[in-house]
Amino acid sequence: MNIFEKITALAKRRGFIYPGSEIYGGLAGTWDYGPLGVELKRNIKNEFWRSMVQMRDDVVGIDAAIIMNPKVWEASGHLASFSDPLVECKKCHKRFRLDEIANSKFEASHSKQIQNTDITKCCPECGGEITEPKQFNLMVETYLGVVEGEKTKTYLRGEITQGVHVNFKNVISSTRVKIPFGVAQIGKAFRNEITPGEFTFRSREFEQMELQFYTKPEEKESMQWFEYWKEERRKWYLSLGMREENLRFFEHPKEKLAHYARAAFDVEYNAEGDWKEMEGIHHRGDWDLKQHQTFSKQDLSYFDEEKKERYFPWIIETSGGVDRATLFFLMDAYREELITNNKQPTTEEKEETRIVLKLHPKLAPYKAAVFPLLANKPQLVDLAKSIYSDLKKEFSVTWDERGNIGKRYRAQDEAGTPFCITIDFESLESKDVTVRDRDTMEQVRIPIDALQDFLESKLK
Ligand code: GAP
Repeated sequence: MNIFEKITALAKRRGFIYPGSEIYGGLAGTWDYGPLGVELKRNIKNEFWRSMVQMRDDVVGIDAAIIMNPKVWEASGHLASFSDPLVECKKCHKRFRLDEIANSKFEASHSKQIQNTDITKCCPECGGEITEPKQFNLMVETYLGVVEGEKTKTYLRGEITQGVHVNFKNVISSTRVKIPFGVAQIGKAFRNEITPGEFTFRSREFEQMELQFYTKPEEKESMQWFEYWKEERRKWYLSLGMREENLRFFEHPKEKLAHYARAAFDVEYNAEGDWKEMEGIHHRGDWDLKQHQTFSKQDLSYFDEEKKERYFPWIIETSGGVDRATLFFLMDAYREELITNNKQPTTEEKEETRIVLKLHPKLAPYKAAVFPLLANKPQLVDLAKSIYSDLKKEFSVTWDERGNIGKRYRAQDEAGTPFCITIDFESLESKDVTVRDRDTMEQVRIPIDALQDFLESKLK
């Protein structure tokens, strides 16, 4: 199994992510987050918001509508050119993005059969001849209105970006922001991807977390901000435990940049040797504001009080996928570890391979699990329940009394729970409990009234 398959299986087994509408056979490119997944994803979004909005004086947040006036997408260029080249196999009629053809599985597994054929013209599935590429627009259409025949064609937003730019004037006039400043947003985006796949990596419905940062229209200053945000975003992933060796920047070649873009880098994640785009850092120049001014006929320029001059600011964007971050945090945390005696397994844990998610405590769905040693001893259950309900007021914690302690540890390892708290007979007398660390599997005794501080210190 490759890492995508392992994470897909674990995510389903433990309730992180399920295929969308599964009982009806699913719907390609859609995913449902389960009880653990919704916590993990929310923790990622909260950490983004904390670092990008709450901790800063120069960034504010908004939450714009998903469905916007269709003119927005004319202005942004999405209706004319938000497309991928699509090809179709003349034999099996499967459809592909053109870029999928060259690196196809068919090429690898059937290389002898196609020695004399131009592989850029071969179907990756059956080797059949493919059509010439045609542009396929990725915008998802929808219709508003109640009268048949008079419904307005609109779109589910293809990126969350434009909701920020169309509110540029509103934000300036209703707050005290001054350039340089940024507007952050988190929300759903939709793309009719030709070939969704690799678990949630390429979905048709997904979430983005973005910053649009407005700078003076000056080469040197805007590039300084560009470099600053590149580094900030890298540091954010590292601060939440992503391993440095699994992150890198990929610079988009100048000739492949959008015509208005001055620079673009991807933050890439190393999925077992396959580097994948996780976030984009883009220098968008003044394209968005100028386009919206032209199409809306509203003045979207900025008056700089200090310089006493009017201009269109330049925009530095950081655009991350929440689902991709969730996927890659899961991948980065995933370990298969052989428990041997010299790693000091507890007496309850046998020598075996354990699967453990070493998620940062800030991201872990549950910060701790509380267990009574035995489910049929009311004194243990009562004490454990009172500890559980006290901790619940402050932290996301879970309860388990099924099976033996070893099995409960295994389940919490796979859920990424950093600490397991066991209430045993000694606890009744000494008023302390056993706390087992997910990563080291070591156990310590901690007084019940120190548990709250202990967990708090681990979350800092
Ligand atoms: N506003 C700029 C923008 O949307 P993008 O590179 O098209 O740029 C930004 O998308 C990020 O959104 C990507 O780096 C990725 O993390 C996420 N993303 C894009 N398409 C996606 C898809 N089909 N499924 C999941 N995430 C996607």
